[in-house]
Amino acid sequence: MTLRFDNRVAIVTGAGGGLGRAYALDLARRGAKVVVNDLGGARDGSGSSLSAAQGVVDEITAMGGEAMANGASVTDAAAVEKMVAFVKERWGRVDILINNAGILRDRTFVKMSHDDFRQVLDVHLMGSVICTKAVWEIMREQTFGRILMTTSSTGLYGNFGQANYGAAKLGLVGLMKTLALEGAKYNVKVNTIAPLAATRMTEDLMPAELLAKMGPETVVPAAVFLVSDDAPTNAVINAGGGGFERAYVTLTQGIHVAPEDMTAETVAARFAEISDRTGEIVPDTGSAQGAVALGGGNRG
Ligand code: NAI
Repeated sequence: MTLRFDNRVAIVTGAGGGLGRAYALDLARRGAKVVVNDLGGARDGSGSSLSAAQGVVDEITAMGGEAMANGASVTDAAAVEKMVAFVKERWGRVDILINNAGILRDRTFVKMSHDDFRQVLDVHLMGSVICTKAVWEIMREQTFGRILMTTSSTGLYGNFGQANYGAAKLGLVGLMKTLALEGAKYNVKVNTIAPLAATRMTEDLMPAELLAKMGPETVVPAAVFLVSDDAPTNAVINAGGGGFERAYVTLTQGIHVAPEDMTAETVAARFAEISDRTGEIVPDTGSAQGAVALGGGNRG
């Protein structure tokens, strides 16, 4: 089975280099028309230039594909709406959105300014909200849409010096979970990728011999599957260097006690039981989790 994207229109944000470029090239190779969006700034979000996006468009054109460059910042709602309106006018639809644009402002929390925190939240989280909102109605009307969020092992599991980035990245998983529910009726599927790849974002964070084994192309297979016709919804896949895993937010069986035992002392005394992972589940929705709690647990 070959995954094809003929007649599909895809927007990839932050596609002027790194992972976004690799996604754009592969989607174009598989027949999609691709919008290569990139602000073209530095790793910390400063500056801008259309040349990175245009370079990737040139690569796609050279291999016989169809692409357009766009320099909107994902944080600029008006510019993003303009981009989407232009794509709709030129290509008639928007099938795929890969929210990939991102910046880093790493510092330990003690040294991190509010501005460092807000800028990172703004690009990763609000940028994805703004781009998703700009295509959401189009996808609902088409009864077809594939949206990919980009989280990180930092968001899922934490990383020293990345409080701002981790908060933004786990926020995207929360965003996916509700949008997957709201999009289900309209065949709009929303998933999340947690990449690990050698790019300018990681070039000084990992040893060279490791980086050599994990080019962006090692993440592409998971990203492309997650925006394909056969994509699941509400899935988080970690990918990089040949590894593909799925991450879940699980719920333990916990304890369920009578009103007279609902005390801090009970929680303290039974914390090991509350934490015991035997028989843990993955609730489908927040309400399902509430039902487990109020219904006296999920045991058998
Ligand atoms: P990268 O720095 O090469 O790519 C990010 C791109 O986003 C850049 O081309 C940049 O110009 C663009 N960008 C930044 N702010 C923008 C804005 N406001 N509007 C439009 N474009 C903007 O880094 P990489 O590694 O390719 O990162 C891609 C995504 O993957 C990011 O969301 C990153 O957080 C995520 N990620 C990457 C990992 C890795 O191992 N490389 C690990 C976990 C997550």
